[in-house]
Amino acid sequence: MANGCFITFEGIDGCGKSTQIQYLTDHLKERGIDYLLLREPGGTVIGENIRNILLDKKNTGMTDMTELLLFEAARAQIVAEVIVPAVESGKVVICDRFFDSTAAYQGFAKNMGADVVDTLNRLATGGFEPDITFLLDISVEDALSRRVARGEEDRIEKLGVEFQKKVREGYLELAKTSQRIVKIDGSQSPEDTAEDIRKYVEELI
Ligand code: TYD
Repeated sequence: MANGCFITFEGIDGCGKSTQIQYLTDHLKERGIDYLLLREPGGTVIGENIRNILLDKKNTGMTDMTELLLFEAARAQIVAEVIVPAVESGKVVICDRFFDSTAAYQGFAKNMGADVVDTLNRLATGGFEPDITFLLDISVEDALSRRVARGEEDRIEKLGVEFQKKVREGYLELAKTSQRIVKIDGSQSPEDTAEDIRKYVEELI
């Protein structure tokens, strides 16, 4: 049986993940490689329901702890129901955000603590980790102009520039200590960025 693998994409809001994921899946399609594209929070019926609660702008009273536990609940579901079985069946699984988002957004930017988030991440995933994680790094200013061009913001994106700066700092801290996380310069042209990512993926699969 083929060896599956698990690839995740991370970065601040508006970093260009969607474009890069599109480039990568187009490439995999061309090569006839069986892949599965997922997103967090979401990717399962239960997870999409949790996503609606998390991103709903009406939920202004949500505590940080509720938010953290909901992200982890959605994660527990997608890992058990979809990701692990797909990787075990030999698929290349690509996920738009995974537990590094929780470390950067809740752990670092919302000060909930790296230890708490690490513990919950391990519980939710049963220790399952990505083989490689692409961190698309761009300045908050560049990301903001992309988001403005895209239109409306959700509850988390509404937290503003200072928050996004902290998220970026959190990601860069994570990248310093993790071999798994590959920092990619997202300010290059989309084609150059895609080429960088393709090289790593080719090595992996
Ligand atoms: P989404 O619309 O998927 O944003 P993007 O296209 O930027 O990925 O919304 C997901 C939002 O949830 C985004 O602002 C990041 C945030 N998030 C967390 O705060 N913690 C998490 O663990 C995850 C997975 C996402």
